[in-house]
Amino acid sequence: MPLVTTLEMLKDAQQKHYAVGAFNIENMEMAQAVIAAAEAQRAPVIIQTTPGTLKYAKPATYAAIVTSLAKEATVPVAMHLDHGDSYELAVECLNAGYSSVMIDGSRLSFEDNIAQAAKVVAEAQKLSVPVEAELGKVGGKEDTLEDAGDEYTDPAKAAEYASRTGISSLAVAIGTAHGVYSKKPVLDVERLKAIRKVVEIPLVLHGASGLTTEQVQSCIAEGICKVNFATELRIAYTEGVKEALEKNPIDPKAYGKAGRAKVQALVEKWMKDCNASGKA
Ligand code: 13P
Ligand code: ZN
Repeated sequence: MPLVTTLEMLKDAQQKHYAVGAFNIENMEMAQAVIAAAEAQRAPVIIQTTPGTLKYAKPATYAAIVTSLAKEATVPVAMHLDHGDSYELAVECLNAGYSSVMIDGSRLSFEDNIAQAAKVVAEAQKLSVPVEAELGKVGGKEDTLEDAGDEYTDPAKAAEYASRTGISSLAVAIGTAHGVYSKKPVLDVERLKAIRKVVEIPLVLHGASGLTTEQVQSCIAEGICKVNFATELRIAYTEGVKEALEKNPIDPKAYGKAGRAKVQALVEKWMKDCNASGKA
């Protein structure tokens, strides 16, 4: 089927109390693996690319790969810009056919963050594409993203932020971080509850690699509708490739398949944990 937007997907998740998994991909094989997992689990799925990934290949290239895979798929697939770091990149992705974009103004002041997000929303609305934005700062290091993450989302500002930007979903900072955790993260679920009370749009959890199933499920129970996974997929893909390379293949298909199998197994596990299985 054609790409779907994250708007209807996340509304359904919100109503039925599950979360759609959003999985970062770097190449065709990872995209194939994520969609194969979604088919196997009958789960809706979001595929996303970071600005770092979009320096490796262009938005139009990733959009073409994912659009063609989605067309053959029998489950809903959305294509999302993750942590868009400029208005220009968001517009490039919109023009390339992405069905969802994030603009990440978490490094900006409250007012500048609002202004940037509202500008992207105005552009995205012309194509009926939903926008995700972040209030507070999810820290850690992953790919080209690096932040101290010392600022949790302030529930007192969240409603004003959502209404003044016109965004469709809100990424919250409640103690998760990008990349590999050096110590067990402690999540501020009370803060999530407080945000949920004042914000009606779907909430997004970033930095899910390394969280336990229980941690992710406790966030879904308090209103998280989209959960982002990146680092664990990169590790799984690389492990599969490394293992296959030990057999000294000369065919890139041999190690591509091995990476793909590892990613598919991981993604299927997280889809089950997010209660997304059987929702497509
Ligand atoms: P992880 O790399 O920690 O899974 O974070 C994913 C993420 O938030 C992508 O935006
Ligand atoms: Zn993130």
